[in-house]
Amino acid sequence: MPVDEDKYPAESDRRRFVKGVVGSAALTGFGGVGAITVDSLTNPSGAGGGTVISRVVENVAGPAPRGMPVIPIEFDEEGYLRGLFPEYEEVEEQGRVIQNAQMEVGGVTYGAEWFQYCGVQSYAGLQPDADQDNYFRYSNEYEWHADLEGERVNRSHFEPGGEFVGYEEWGNDIGDDGVGKPASATWRSQDQGGKDTMPVQIIRSTQVEELVENTDDEFVQAALNDGFVANLNKCTHFCCVPGFKATSGAAKFGAENDIYCQCHQSVYDPFSIVEAQFTALPRPEE
Ligand code: FES
Repeated sequence: MPVDEDKYPAESDRRRFVKGVVGSAALTGFGGVGAITVDSLTNPSGAGGGTVISRVVENVAGPAPRGMPVIPIEFDEEGYLRGLFPEYEEVEEQGRVIQNAQMEVGGVTYGAEWFQYCGVQSYAGLQPDADQDNYFRYSNEYEWHADLEGERVNRSHFEPGGEFVGYEEWGNDIGDDGVGKPASATWRSQDQGGKDTMPVQIIRSTQVEELVENTDDEFVQAALNDGFVANLNKCTHFCCVPGFKATSGAAKFGAENDIYCQCHQSVYDPFSIVEAQFTALPRPEE
């Protein structure tokens, strides 16, 4: 798979192997992943900074240097969606104790570093002391969930026969109907008064179901759950917030059924999950 270049300066790739254990609480209700954790790779550039290999929704056009990071999805017993986030653990590095958040998902090392670009590394929700419940909460990009802003995202809102149009038929006036039902949400940002909001794109689609069914990629099988895919919705070019079927202008660039960034026309395919390497920025206080 291609390794993307990044605009950030290159770092030394010297790494150190540290044993650790991630608490199992974070895995409640999380399908497809066995007992996890194990080892952490740390980097001399600081906690959570340095060379990182992540899984992303693929960047297929435009100036963005790579795709946007996937957030593995889990459900609670009432069908509410949460984004999996690894617990922080203390590790010793070069004589000092630092806190890293990493775990293994489908054979891939998944960590807080995946989100450490575009200033997100300094957001409250990414700090070790963040008190966040990991639920996705609706923001205001799509009309169908305008009355739900601030409420938690629930699987039932995407199913046919309920209050809303089902994901297999949903459409707006952009692109084709039935290719996927999107929601815009926030993550690890509650009770912050609108500050440090982490935007998320959620899509439920038969294309996600097909992708999971036809792949032998264990990360995809574990992270994309019940037809849902989620990503941190910060364009890796200059950090705008793109959208899936959110802007009619996307059609001009053939992106009406993709995630499109209207700032400089980067396009992301949410139904293609690929590997990307980049230089994560360290959390500032460390
Ligand atoms: S394409 Fe430039 S910020 Fe998205």
